Amino acid sequence: MDYKTNKNKPAVFSGVQPSGVLHLGNYLGALKQWVEMQEQYNCIFCVVDYHAITVKQEPKQLSRRILDVVRTYLAAGIHPAKAVIFQQSAISAHTELAWILNCAAARLSDLNKMTQFKDKSAKKESVSVGLYDYPVLMAADILLYNTDAVPVGEDQVQHVELTRTLAQRFNRQYGQVFKIPEVVISEQGARIMGLDDPAKKMSKSAASPANYIALTDTPEVATKKIRRAVTDSGSEIKYDLKNKPAIANLMVIYSLLTNISLKEIEKNYQGQGYGEFKKDLAEAVKKFLVEFQIKYNSFTDDEVRQILKHGAEKVRPLAEETLKTVKNKLGIN
Ligand code: TYM
Repeated sequence: MDYKTNKNKPAVFSGVQPSGVLHLGNYLGALKQWVEMQEQYNCIFCVVDYHAITVKQEPKQLSRRILDVVRTYLAAGIHPAKAVIFQQSAISAHTELAWILNCAAARLSDLNKMTQFKDKSAKKESVSVGLYDYPVLMAADILLYNTDAVPVGEDQVQHVELTRTLAQRFNRQYGQVFKIPEVVISEQGARIMGLDDPAKKMSKSAASPANYIALTDTPEVATKKIRRAVTDSGSEIKYDLKNKPAIANLMVIYSLLTNISLKEIEKNYQGQGYGEFKKDLAEAVKKFLVEFQIKYNSFTDDEVRQILKHGAEKVRPLAEETLKTVKNKLGIN
């Protein structure tokens, strides 16, 4: 199946930053949806390395992580024959369009509303301009490819809404160019919470590794983290987000990994305590990690580089076409 020959299928675009360790939240909130979508849509999945450098990265580690994000996509089940995988910095149209949107569509008042910037910049002495402008680069990523749908976790919804605003504003001012993309979030996995604190999301920048299950954690480490995961008062296995947020989060993880519904889980664990449930959850996570890591470790760096190279070759003409139209509208071609 070739990307370019399926013009009538809706286009999907999404990406992951090569920063920090990828975790179950990334998988359940984003990648799992992507795998399902690649069967029906024209999917483009990007490794957004220019987003990663909005905060300081160690260069050697960043190079490694770019390849590792691709291996994560592949191990999750993204197939390069079905979906395009490429590296953001390989296509200069991303930063060019971001600059144009900065000038022709984005306003300080838009960016001042971004909650992720507020969280990420809080209590930091030195904050890059790039971190502030990050959502505009994300808008450029999405708008370059006439994207219909953007599957992401809940924390990215505000950025996709901003993308829509920028696209509409540009179109009003300069004439129809951009398609207005829709955000797609998973019904259950859009916000996987930290194991150490169900009030905070599972995050690659969490202070403690007890917050997340990394996709590269050994099953033993993952089992320990689950055993130590915070639970709520009482002992009943019940999906009650308000009163039992910790156990509700563990139930969501279990449900998404096993395809057992939350209702069924409640029924299966009637009369049993947290210990029993956590044991089964650890088993499910172990099964997932073992299968995931066998695939993850099976790809060589050369294979990954080839996939990125082919991906860039496929998307470059699409990105350049959009950029050319935009420049024409602005009178700078
Ligand atoms: P990033 O790299 O922080 O996260 C990658 C994806 O994982 C989702 N996610 C979660 N989902 C559920 N529960 C969680 N605890 C959790 N933590 C992370 C994120 O929502 C995301 O979907 N700005 C983006 C990357 C990006 C992008 C784009 C995405 C750049 N350009 C264009 C879509 C389209 C980011 O930093 O994701």
